[in-house]
Amino acid sequence: MQTSLRRSGQQLLLDRSPALKSIYSFSATGYGIDQHRHASTIAVKGSGHLIRKGTGGRSSVSGIVATVFGATGFLGRYVVQQLAKMGSQVLVPFRGSEDSHRHLKLMGDLGQIVPMKYNPRDENSIKAVMAKANVVLNLIGREYETRNFSFEEVNHGMAEQLALIAKEHGGIIRFIQMSCLGASSSSPSRMLRAKAAAEEAILREFPEATVMRPATLIGTEDRILNRWASFAKKWSFLPLMGDGSTKIQPVYVVDVAAAIISSLKDDGTSMGKIYELGGPDVYTMHELAELMYETIREWPRYVKVPFPIAKAMASPRELLLKKVPFPLPNPEIFNLDHINALTVDTVVSENALTFSDLGIAPHKLKGYPTEYLISYRKGGPSFGSTVSERVTGSEF
Ligand SMILES: NC(=O)c1ccc[n+]([C@@H]2O[C@H](COP(=O)([O-])OP(=O)(O)OC[C@H]3O[C@@H](n4cnc5c(N)ncnc54)[C@H](OP(=O)(O)O)[C@@H]3O)[C@@H](O)[C@H]2O)c1
Repeated sequence: MQTSLRRSGQQLLLDRSPALKSIYSFSATGYGIDQHRHASTIAVKGSGHLIRKGTGGRSSVSGIVATVFGATGFLGRYVVQQLAKMGSQVLVPFRGSEDSHRHLKLMGDLGQIVPMKYNPRDENSIKAVMAKANVVLNLIGREYETRNFSFEEVNHGMAEQLALIAKEHGGIIRFIQMSCLGASSSSPSRMLRAKAAAEEAILREFPEATVMRPATLIGTEDRILNRWASFAKKWSFLPLMGDGSTKIQPVYVVDVAAAIISSLKDDGTSMGKIYELGGPDVYTMHELAELMYETIREWPRYVKVPFPIAKAMASPRELLLKKVPFPLPNPEIFNLDHINALTVDTVVSENALTFSDLGIAPHKLKGYPTEYLISYRKGGPSFGSTVSERVTGSEF
């Protein structure tokens, strides 16, 4: 009985969604269409109209019941905080330990943040975490591959699956997909190509979805300035890929979370659109590193690593990843895919919809958004002086 139900479920999904054939062709990774994960029997129902109560604060009811996939990550904490602050209920699917979502619980009123264990490869569990929602945010993404998860599965396959399930749900009024600035089918980075494929699939399956393409995120838990600062402290220099002239447009993580909220609050104008979210200033990698050094009050020392050498240094991990019988360390500074991405500039395109179309003025990075770096000052937060102070000091 169970088997026949499962088969008919699979057939139904195949009939409805020919696209599944293409994404789930990763059968080598146990991600094939023949897996029983498509045999969902959970009834999914939308929750109908939004019911709003209160003045809009934490103890109000915004009417939004949002399932935030990827809430346990860096951006997730700011998105959950802003959703909870306006009185939304946030369902937090998590796959790791109970610790992965602990910090989110206090962001909302009692019972407003609901962690739910799920398995991203089990369709039933995805349906269960989406069942009561009327909004779905997909913040799942990863900038390196592991033995278990390829770029394509995490950044494309999962996103497409969420869009399909959200459509089938029938009551999801908003779907927001976090992509990346620079996502393109012709990008030198596999992750950015997978993100572009995800955008296309999502807008095909759920045309009312909104796609956000943030630039490199900066904030207390970021994975660029923190890594640079700890590398510079440990080795007394910082490797600059290429000659450090690649342009990027880093953005404050809180602004990106605010853009998501603003899009959810609008009258539907952001539905079906793609936004490129870059900060107010374009930096070369070298200029951004200068900002880091200035804030941690260390004398800047660089080693320029030409791209071919950087790629050669980063390649062994990728070559060995699936060949050795044990997990390899995750790449930090020398991430091959990231090095590939850095071979081209990544800035907001000229005619793109941006923060201003969502009514937001992004913060400059210098100052509060990068203040967390003072924890890297060797003699405590008040230690030392900036480079400009030192130069001025020696002149007198
Ligand atoms: N950080 C940036 O600079 C940046 C820039 C542009 C765009 N983005 C995009 O913005 C989104 C959020 O970024 P972030 O910095 O918050 O990422 P993050 O800190 O790495 O968090 C990623 C989230 O995705 C989940 N995830 C990763 N692999 C998964 C898998 N195999 N199965 C299920 N869940 C998985 C993680 O869950 P676990 O906690 O269980 O691992 C985590 O909740 C991502 O889509 C990212 O591509 C980020």
